[in-house]
Amino acid sequence: MTDNPKIQELRELKRQSRLGGGEARVDVQHKKGRLTARERLDLLLDKGSFRELDPFVVHRTTDFGLDKNKFMSDSVVTGWGTIDGRLIYVFSQDFTVLGGSLGEVHAEKIVKLMDMAIKNGAPVIGLNDSGGARIQEGVVSLGGYSDIFLRNTLASGVVPQISAIMGPCAGGAVYSPALTDFIFMVRDSSYMFVTGPDVVKAVTNEIVSFEDLGGASIHSEESGVCHVAAESEADTLFLIRKLLGYLPQNNMEDSPIVDTGDDPLRRDEALDTIIPDDPSKPYDVKDIIQSVMDNGEFFEIHANYAMNIVVGFSRLGGHAVGIIANQPAVLAGVLDIEASEKAARFIRFCDSFNIPIITFEDVPGFLPGTVQEHGGIIRSGAKLLFAYCEATVPKLTVVTRKAYGGAYCVMSSKHIRGDLNLAWPSAEIAVMGPDGAVNIIFRKELAAADDPVAKKAELVEEYRTKFANPYVAAGRGYIDDVIEPRDTRPRLINALEMLQNKRDTNPPKKHGNIPL
Ligand code: HXC
Repeated sequence: MTDNPKIQELRELKRQSRLGGGEARVDVQHKKGRLTARERLDLLLDKGSFRELDPFVVHRTTDFGLDKNKFMSDSVVTGWGTIDGRLIYVFSQDFTVLGGSLGEVHAEKIVKLMDMAIKNGAPVIGLNDSGGARIQEGVVSLGGYSDIFLRNTLASGVVPQISAIMGPCAGGAVYSPALTDFIFMVRDSSYMFVTGPDVVKAVTNEIVSFEDLGGASIHSEESGVCHVAAESEADTLFLIRKLLGYLPQNNMEDSPIVDTGDDPLRRDEALDTIIPDDPSKPYDVKDIIQSVMDNGEFFEIHANYAMNIVVGFSRLGGHAVGIIANQPAVLAGVLDIEASEKAARFIRFCDSFNIPIITFEDVPGFLPGTVQEHGGIIRSGAKLLFAYCEATVPKLTVVTRKAYGGAYCVMSSKHIRGDLNLAWPSAEIAVMGPDGAVNIIFRKELAAADDPVAKKAELVEEYRTKFANPYVAAGRGYIDDVIEPRDTRPRLINALEMLQNKRDTNPPKKHGNIPL
């Protein structure tokens, strides 16, 4: 309580500012099963840590009656706070005010926040719930979005940027997230589209639901726009907190080292028999990841997209690492367009933010066929190659089984600056698998053979003995050591420690020209 009228006025103004679009609109938001902008901040941040910026800001537009439709704070709440005690900057769009639409002052608030984040070196989290550019403000809204897009781009590789899609997001409200590092979506409650179902119907005559046009399933399984799809808003915000634990504050720092309590010398005999005797039989590479990483923990990115490659964050001896692993259990772990792009983007994130890269390799090669060739697998595969080549963070590779052809070169081979390349005794490192190789190099012999089947079996066996092992590569130093699978964890942790002062650079340049 206070008798001071000026303080009373201040308190009243702040109370009004916190109301957003008012009780009725908050009720509508709740009825849709969604939280308000401020309730989301409460769940995301450490209790009591939020400090708000610009609660008194109101828009300056008079067109279309907007002068009678003003709300303090406008349609976005901005500020900073902490997650697990570490500083983050955050904006949370308020759908209860003009559908969270972005006009001049909404944009100014986000721009101010992002400039602070870049200057002070801390992550930016955007909680998006917006109908896009505020239509009544016309080109000023477009200018506002452009100002944000520029900040997103300038901040890229300087501070981590994470977007959560918490409601229906259209237009500019999807392009800003698309420029950030990770997009989270809430299943059955959040949508992303450049133009909504009404516009789609008007332009293409297609009738499509919000969910089928841009729901979390579509974007986490088909388009790959979404990196993590969560079951609820609370789950989404919890997972963002978890992800941040693996990341540094900015590109000048390392990720925090955490005491995970898992023995760095722990060995796992089960790994010795995890690779099936039959080289055409699949296994789940996630079992290897689980066995090797601290407490088996793995924060998977793009879990349901291009599942023939697995990427995500883990810890080894308490150090955060990025994992890229071919998945023999899906399409034999082959590299296709989606898998190449998925992994390339992840590698570039890790390299931007000083996170060592661990590659588990078991790949029969690039996927053949017209669909892939016409779709540009040459360009997409080159993205992966480029990403691995330019990365200067510590790079550790474990070849568990197949390392065939171009895929051998691409998957962090020694030749493209792999720091330590290990192989299991089950590794097969060759230009191609025995079957294909024999068909090509012994075509004439097979055609002339009395019993082509027996002849082929004999030649395949000869090829397998000669090439389908790690020792030819190890004999040339292309593989640094062949190890017992059970030793993988201690060997990788030891290597990470050996590499902790690694210094490597690329030639000075403005920037490279990754084959986009
Ligand atoms: C102004 C908007 C708005 C917008 C929504 N509202 N979008 N006001 N500008 N862009 C207002 C509505 O008028 C309504 O106000 C309130 O927000 C809630 O919207 P509803 O339509 O009632 O909600 P819902 O049914 O949940 O639908 C949400 C929606 C839909 C899917 C987002 O509102 C919609 O399609 N909005 C337009 C999307 C769009 O095309 N945006 C422009 C994109 S162009 P009242 O007062 O009635 O409650 C763009 C350019 C940037 O963004 C380009 C960058 C490259």
